[in-house]
Amino acid sequence: MGANVSSTNVVNISDLRLLAKKRLPQMVFDYIDSGADREQTLSQNCTAFKEIYFRPRCAVATPSCDLNISVLDQEFKLPFILAPVGSSRMFYPKGEVVAAREAGIAGTGYTLSTLSGCRLEEVKQATNCPAWYQLYLLGGRDVAMQTIERAKSAGFSAIVVTIDTPISGLRERDVRNGTKQLLSRNPIQMLPYIPQMLIKPCWLTQWLGDGGLMSFPNVELESGPMGYTEIGPALEESVVTWEDLNWIREAWGGKIIVKGIHIGEDARKAIDLGVDAVVVSNHGARQLDSVAPTIQVLPEVVKAVNGEIDVLIDGGIRRGGDVVKALCLGAKGVLISRAYAYGLAAGGGPGVAKAIEIIKTDILRTMKLLGCDSVKKLDRSFVTIPPSWA
Ligand SMILES: Cc1cc2nc3c(=O)[nH]c(=O)nc-3n(C[C@H](O)[C@H](O)[C@H](O)COP(=O)(O)O)c2cc1C
Repeated sequence: MGANVSSTNVVNISDLRLLAKKRLPQMVFDYIDSGADREQTLSQNCTAFKEIYFRPRCAVATPSCDLNISVLDQEFKLPFILAPVGSSRMFYPKGEVVAAREAGIAGTGYTLSTLSGCRLEEVKQATNCPAWYQLYLLGGRDVAMQTIERAKSAGFSAIVVTIDTPISGLRERDVRNGTKQLLSRNPIQMLPYIPQMLIKPCWLTQWLGDGGLMSFPNVELESGPMGYTEIGPALEESVVTWEDLNWIREAWGGKIIVKGIHIGEDARKAIDLGVDAVVVSNHGARQLDSVAPTIQVLPEVVKAVNGEIDVLIDGGIRRGGDVVKALCLGAKGVLISRAYAYGLAAGGGPGVAKAIEIIKTDILRTMKLLGCDSVKKLDRSFVTIPPSWA
């Protein structure tokens, strides 16, 4: 039960965002929607795409368009993959399972966050398509080793190591909404902030029906699964460093992706450590504010990588045209995040399916208008970018 995501009024991702806002308590909506500090990078991640102009080839018939990509020798039917989104289970019952299932139905991949409310085995079972596991070192190395073993046995096909989270960014909206107090389980602290939940009975009923405030079953401590209030301190105690990539690679023994690359130099470090792909990402502008929008730094990273490994990108992608622009600038594929999270929050599986369909249809239309029949043929000749980006 969610908003009517199939309505003809739902044309783009902004429409799904509004439906999510209607259904969710302020605190949960802002958890998805907000960015760090003054939210400068949050808006610039999106607006930077407007600085790229297409150079279409006209009078070219493209009766069919090939949208398939291959990343790390894995095949995807769409040039975008679902990014890790922590606490998706807060947005919709069994959120991670629901999103993974829809990704699989669409023929694309899903990345499961360490901060999942669902067990990784259950999530993997929901999809036949490639699923990647995003790793934080919460709880320390031994805890991470156990999770790596579980991810291996469950059939995840790559580990995504996020490197931009030595501390949680300051999301001011979370502070105003009393997120910390609401998660404290202390009734006196919680009381002033509870009305925002009571006025969303549909979400509240579903959330309570799904078990209410979840813990994190893939961060298994001696005392049991890690709880919400432990995350902040645990992040700071478990900073991922370049050296960690060595033991992670050894323990995992498969493909490794590093997520959180802002500069060419870090991409080179990742290559030197034997990483298989990098994601140009500023964590959706939730960590360090005032970093450059990801699409702006993509050319620098692509140049530094020099075709040696796959380069992916996320940040601010809300339209199929944004995906096409990123591919033109050398990304092998794109991760979408809030775009599907809004859909999940608005209407569960059908909401995720709607988000995927909106972006896919946009891409197909854009490709036809560009006169290009395969995403593999996209290159810099299809766009102009500001001279300072090159
Ligand atoms: C609500 C939310 C939760 C997120 N949780 C995680 C996470 O657990 N791990 C991670 O590596 N990235 C996380 N991210 C970052 C996304 O994977 C992605 O890098 C970013 O959101 C892309 O920007 P976009 O949302 O503008 O597309 C999260 C993002 C959002 C919006």
